[in-house]
Amino acid sequence: MKTVVITGSARGLGFNMAKYFRENNYNVMLSDLNEDNLKKAKESLEEIKSRGRIAYQVCDVSKLQDIEELMKYTKKEFQTPDIWINNAGVNQPQKALWELDKKEINTLLDVDLKGAIYGSITAMKEMERNHKGAIYNIEGYGSNDAHMLGLNMYGTSKRAVTYYTESLAQEAEQRKTNVIVGKLSPGIMITDFTNHSLGNDKIELSEKTKKVYNILGDKPEVVAKYLVEKMITNTKNNVKINWLTNRKAFIRFLTAPFNKRDFFKDK
Ligand SMILES: NC(=O)c1ccc[n+]([C@@H]2O[C@H](COP(=O)([O-])OP(=O)(O)OC[C@H]3O[C@@H](n4cnc5c(N)ncnc54)[C@H](O)[C@@H]3O)[C@@H](O)[C@H]2O)c1
Repeated sequence: MKTVVITGSARGLGFNMAKYFRENNYNVMLSDLNEDNLKKAKESLEEIKSRGRIAYQVCDVSKLQDIEELMKYTKKEFQTPDIWINNAGVNQPQKALWELDKKEINTLLDVDLKGAIYGSITAMKEMERNHKGAIYNIEGYGSNDAHMLGLNMYGTSKRAVTYYTESLAQEAEQRKTNVIVGKLSPGIMITDFTNHSLGNDKIELSEKTKKVYNILGDKPEVVAKYLVEKMITNTKNNVKINWLTNRKAFIRFLTAPFNKRDFFKDK
């Protein structure tokens, strides 16, 4: 039985990826900030028929010690993970760089960048010893060098995640670890992340932004299914598993006049 660890998996993309790994008979280790939410997520996943088991552990990815505990518990409960996904992330308040306070800047960098780095280090050490495994990091706005007011620190984090993931893939190869390192690019998903900053504060989306999200966005379950199917079959190092390709985005804009989707109707 194979084992996957997903950070930030009590909801959103992380939770939905857990669902598809479970359908594919993986042991799933959920982890997130809040125990009650994890418990609910586990109960909901237990309704899916699977030969795999589920466990959870509270883990704040900005704390290296929490991540090391998560690895320890995964090994105890299951085994050294086959796949480790650094998924936990927070959105930025819609402010220019100088309008952010120190705490906001630190949280963004600690969760979105350092959290993924700590996860990668912890997973790589164990997987190198095991001589197998795969580590995936999540790209986001800024990964491709795009810029927008209100996304400076988030974009900085995601641009850095892309850079360090590619470097880590090279290092994994040079050290002959036999460990795969890759990037997941989920496009735009309608989740709590979309209209909340730093996990809490509501973001009021402009009508223009909602229009773009209705064209390019997807529910997390749709994206998760695609990403999990690709991860399960991937054997290549340094891959990018990309949901919203340029071609798909082009077709979405082309067919926009016929698009009846409205993700924000009831929100
Ligand atoms: N939603 C989008 O449009 C979008 C687009 C591109 C990339 N992403 C990325 O996808 C990933 C998942 O986002 P989502 O849309 O599912 O968001 P979400 O807000 O629905 O889920 C994120 C999860 O991470 C958890 N989390 C936050 N801080 C944490 C911490 N310090 N330690 C552990 N867990 C923590 C939250 O509790 C939550 O369960 C993130 O890395 C995000 O940057 C999202």
